[in-house]
Amino acid sequence: MEKTERKIPYLAEQGNKKVLMVNGKPFIMLAGEVHNSNSSSAAYMEQVWEKAEKLGMNTLLLPVSWELIEPQEGVFDFSLVDGLIEQAREKGGKLGFLWFGSWKNAQCYYAPEWVKADTARFRRAEVVCGQNFCQLEHFYGMPYTSLSYLCAETRESDARAFAALMAHIRDVDGEEHTVLTVQVENETGLMGSARERSKESDALFAADVPEEFAAYMKANTATMVPEIKAAVEGGAASGSWEEVFGNAAEELFSAYHVAGYVNAVAKAGKEAYPLPMTVNCWLDKGGAPGSYPTGGPVSKVLEVWKYRAPAIDIFAPDIYIKEFADICDEMTRRYDNPLYIPECATHSYAGPRAVYCVGHYHAMCYAPFGFEDMGEEFSDVQAYLFGVDTEDPALKVPQNVEEYGWYNRTMQSMMPLLTSRYGTDGLQAVCSERKEEDTMLFGTFGFRVLTDTPMIRRKDSVCLIVRESEDTFYILANACMVAFFSQDHEKPYAEIFSYEEGEFRDGVWKAGRRLNGDEAASLKFEKPQLRKIRLHAFE
Ligand code: DGJ
Repeated sequence: MEKTERKIPYLAEQGNKKVLMVNGKPFIMLAGEVHNSNSSSAAYMEQVWEKAEKLGMNTLLLPVSWELIEPQEGVFDFSLVDGLIEQAREKGGKLGFLWFGSWKNAQCYYAPEWVKADTARFRRAEVVCGQNFCQLEHFYGMPYTSLSYLCAETRESDARAFAALMAHIRDVDGEEHTVLTVQVENETGLMGSARERSKESDALFAADVPEEFAAYMKANTATMVPEIKAAVEGGAASGSWEEVFGNAAEELFSAYHVAGYVNAVAKAGKEAYPLPMTVNCWLDKGGAPGSYPTGGPVSKVLEVWKYRAPAIDIFAPDIYIKEFADICDEMTRRYDNPLYIPECATHSYAGPRAVYCVGHYHAMCYAPFGFEDMGEEFSDVQAYLFGVDTEDPALKVPQNVEEYGWYNRTMQSMMPLLTSRYGTDGLQAVCSERKEEDTMLFGTFGFRVLTDTPMIRRKDSVCLIVRESEDTFYILANACMVAFFSQDHEKPYAEIFSYEEGEFRDGVWKAGRRLNGDEAASLKFEKPQLRKIRLHAFE
């Protein structure tokens, strides 16, 4: 059993990080998530793969919906799943599947018709007591409805379907490993209220918090965000949800039930085929519970998710907002949670952020959402999500497709070197979105990255440096200048021994021109470039 499990994709500890192991080697998912509907047709996906190829992506994140695999209860149809896997193999790509089951953006769009039709058996969340749907502001007149996180019948049906999917993936992909990860549900949680308002929910909320959970929360306040920590520390040791968790009670109650539900689904799937499993979140952006899917795995309730959902391996943020790196910091600061971004923006920071995530966070997955239209004018929804009304002009510009492809292809060509430095300080990066961090230190040598100089006009700068040996480095950079220095007090001066352009072919550096002349006088990156530099420290 152990042997079989090890063969399939799994997470391994490396230094202070977790890496995704695929066929025995660490793998970075330089991915893209497709628009929701595109993977419902393998024929349509042909053009999507063409775009992915231009963008140098090695993995696609594709929805698989409950309604399409189980159109009638107990009758499964995996022909689409098979088609998507076959197609990925033909294209030489990998897949992460997204299980659109009970939840999709805090609603139940993808539940099968037989689930939607039977509201007595598959109960809806009551945002208003006694009502199966409600009207919410910003829903443009559309009714809001979601399946109840308290309904065991729905949970069990969802879990059965998911287990059948995972068993099928094991049967068709258990040897080849085209499917690397699976996201369980999509943006779970409840809109419009901090918790469900049904009579059942009221009764559970008024009852005592399960003792073990209350004790766990009290013992784990160190990692909590201040607001939750204060509420948990201020509450009683036992009693009702309000007594134990004060003003955070309703959100923690929702998180407890949503996480438990998702765990039951994930666990059933893992029993069939234990691929690494993720959950994604619609960020709370500092809003009040109910204004974002409440109970979903946002940072402030991760302690609850950790306790309730042990079958989940990775907590993944969907990041469209401009405070990109702050969210990455927040989502990686505990539980060795690797940076796994299933959805992010396609504006001009998309490429630099891919590089920054690999170099700085040693990311496992980076996937712009709806990459099919990368490079095109933004839709109104994208413009709103990306924050184009803010001051930063780079947020208003679509990512250049050729540059994105170059970043991805270059990182892919360097994958063995990059991943060998995951979890160590031998791989670092800085970017212009984080101006305050402009220096990278590597033992004898250090590098400072200059972005705001008259020589560099672009704002979307990034610089990734990987150390090959004590004096030799590869620099992948754009829109910046790089200065090096010695950190050796005995040999305080540094100079260049050699500076080369080139590329990695089959994992081996093939040098092009030697650049020890004018190019070495100031290390200037006006477009995406890869360089190898060997330095010398002297007194
Ligand atoms: C987040 C969701 O998870 C995606 O499926 C998609 O709906 C995007 N939002 C649209 O921006």
